Amino acid sequence: MQALACVVLAAGEGTRMKSDIPKPLHEICGRPMIDHVLRTLGELEPERTAVVVGADADEVCEVIGDRARTCEQAEQRGTGHAAQCALPGLQGFEGDVLITYADIPLVRSGTLRGLVEHHRSAGAAATVLTTEVEEPTGYGRIVRDSADAVSAIVEHRDASPEQRAIREINTGIYVFRSQALVGALQQITPDNEQGELYLTDAVEILVAYGRTVAANVAPDAAEVMGINDRVQLAAAERVARDRIREEMMRMGVTLIDPACTYIDAGVSIGGDTVIGPGCHLQGETRVGSGCEIRSNVTLRSATIGDGVLLRDHTVIEDSAVGDGAQVGPFSLVRGDSTVGRGCKVGSSAEMNRSQLDDGSKMQHFSYLGDATVGEGVNIGAGAITCNYDGVEKHHTEIEDGAFIGSDVILVAPITVGEGAYTAAGSVLTKDVEPGSLAIERTNQRSIDNWAERMAKRREQHEEG
Ligand code: UD1
Ligand code: CA
Repeated sequence: MQALACVVLAAGEGTRMKSDIPKPLHEICGRPMIDHVLRTLGELEPERTAVVVGADADEVCEVIGDRARTCEQAEQRGTGHAAQCALPGLQGFEGDVLITYADIPLVRSGTLRGLVEHHRSAGAAATVLTTEVEEPTGYGRIVRDSADAVSAIVEHRDASPEQRAIREINTGIYVFRSQALVGALQQITPDNEQGELYLTDAVEILVAYGRTVAANVAPDAAEVMGINDRVQLAAAERVARDRIREEMMRMGVTLIDPACTYIDAGVSIGGDTVIGPGCHLQGETRVGSGCEIRSNVTLRSATIGDGVLLRDHTVIEDSAVGDGAQVGPFSLVRGDSTVGRGCKVGSSAEMNRSQLDDGSKMQHFSYLGDATVGEGVNIGAGAITCNYDGVEKHHTEIEDGAFIGSDVILVAPITVGEGAYTAAGSVLTKDVEPGSLAIERTNQRSIDNWAERMAKRREQHEEG
């Protein structure tokens, strides 16, 4: 068995993206393109991986992390030159080198494995992954000789009208024997329309030396599409989203309207969970089994337990919801908050940096900020924590079994003791003793005949 190394070319300027963000960092389903590529290559368990990056590519290197060694291509002189820049990263390696581009994010590891196997069984010096497309504009064309063997790759710009009619294109993914790669790269020249060094010219060079260059045709052209501009980025996004949806449904998740459900790469959802239309599941979101996620719910790096009901238009961000809890509609839970098991968070409620312990209820229009709430607490409609004094944030503690009446304002820092009651409409600034009732409001007065007096005044006003 030959050893395998991988090389990713990621140093291009990505001019066609018209972006200040380096192309490898543009995202598909919530993950940078380079991340998709490295995860897929990781599945091949290569002996080593090298990524060619441009100068000042700190953010790209950050995403790469320790998954690959990075080689710098200071000046963008073409894919052949980028491959030359990868050679220091391959120092001492002998075997097969899989080269791919950072802008081919959708390729599957199975396809790459097939390419490597094809290359090895053909005993080729190089093997190109090709595919047939309806619209080959922009891609390099695969030129074959009379015996159907690959003889060259001609870039679109350099192709003759006859060559432009070829629909078999270069995907930009190749396997080279390491020595053949080193040899061919020494001979490429920039005599083309762009004046660049093309990696694709290595094919013609190897053929001229009588070496075998094989082609492996990928059956699914969508998988190997290259992303050069934002239109292609959106097209790739659609393909990737469809894949995720299909995978989820096959694993037992019901998507009421798959086309209107947006699930990022890396999200996990348990079986028998039903997701309504217009939902967005983003980041490192985990959803348990048997949940009902109604329409237009957004989960952003959320952890949702089993059997949870999230009503329409609820947003859960960087927070967790425990088993059997219910939230919404129109509620927001954010800032590392926790909704405990069996809790109920009503409509238009908000939690920020707060914990609601098991079995507690927080009713409509209520707000908890910087609060720790015990078990079995009831927070009435419209009750809020005043956690911000204009300068600092303060903490509210509500102990087990407390009852917070409607429209109570808890001015933090404050503690409501275990089992205590707070009367509706009270503005509380002092701690509440366990088991007591805190009430802060003026006694109700009644003024007789008020309506009659008003009617008289109105009459006088109209006459005058
Ligand atoms: C390339 C291929 C083309 C193929 C297509 C598939 C060449 C000459 N052409 O064209 O045959 O059909 O991909 O999508 O290879 N890069 C560098 N340094 C550079 C230039 C590019 O690292 O100096 C990297 C880019 O970051 C990119 C990749 O190489 O990830 C491909 O470059 P790009 O300019 O997108 O090539 P295409 O025109 O798409
Ligand atoms: Ca490209």
